[in-house]
Amino acid sequence: MELAKAQILKTIHEEVRRCERCPLHQGRTHAVPGDGPADAEIIFIGEAPGFHEDQQGVPFVGAAGKLLNKLLEQAGIDRRKVYITNVIKCRPPGNRDPQPDEVAACKDYLTRQVELIHPQVIVTLGRHSMARAFPGDKISLIHGQPRQINDLIYFPMYHPAAALHQPSLRGTLAEDFRKLRELLDGNLQAEEYQVQPDVEQLSLF
Ligand code: URA
Repeated sequence: MELAKAQILKTIHEEVRRCERCPLHQGRTHAVPGDGPADAEIIFIGEAPGFHEDQQGVPFVGAAGKLLNKLLEQAGIDRRKVYITNVIKCRPPGNRDPQPDEVAACKDYLTRQVELIHPQVIVTLGRHSMARAFPGDKISLIHGQPRQINDLIYFPMYHPAAALHQPSLRGTLAEDFRKLRELLDGNLQAEEYQVQPDVEQLSLF
């Protein structure tokens, strides 16, 4: 079963590497499908690959990735056991924000990754990732607060790159990772979240 899942995940990754669904493929060195095992219990979802990710084809290997590694280590989470991906899989020019048509073109990959892996917890890193699940919310108000929808827990956090630009967020992120540890240990309860009927939401992602 897990072998079959791993094989399907590999197939999704190969599709992403060949993808030409939006113009971003023209400027890429590598598409960045995602990294981690198909049986991961946690998925981290960032925004988009940056320079180093585009060079290597692996998510979160640049400066933001180094901070993410440190936060994971402090929380006692083994990076090799989590799955890490992004809302869009190719680097936007100059690291600009992903555009709605690019997010739409990439949506199906993220949905398939989330549905296949079916983790216990989805950690959204930054507002673009948060907005896939909670489009009406502000990250400054909901970060660090786990929300349960059916059997999935969503855990919104600031993006590590935001903490590189704004050092005061560093402590906030560390605190949110501490809460994630509590959640995983069963010492923090997620709030049951009612999906807003008027908001286009959650085909998972
Ligand atoms: N920032 C992201 O959102 N994703 C990466 O993979 C790297 C930096």
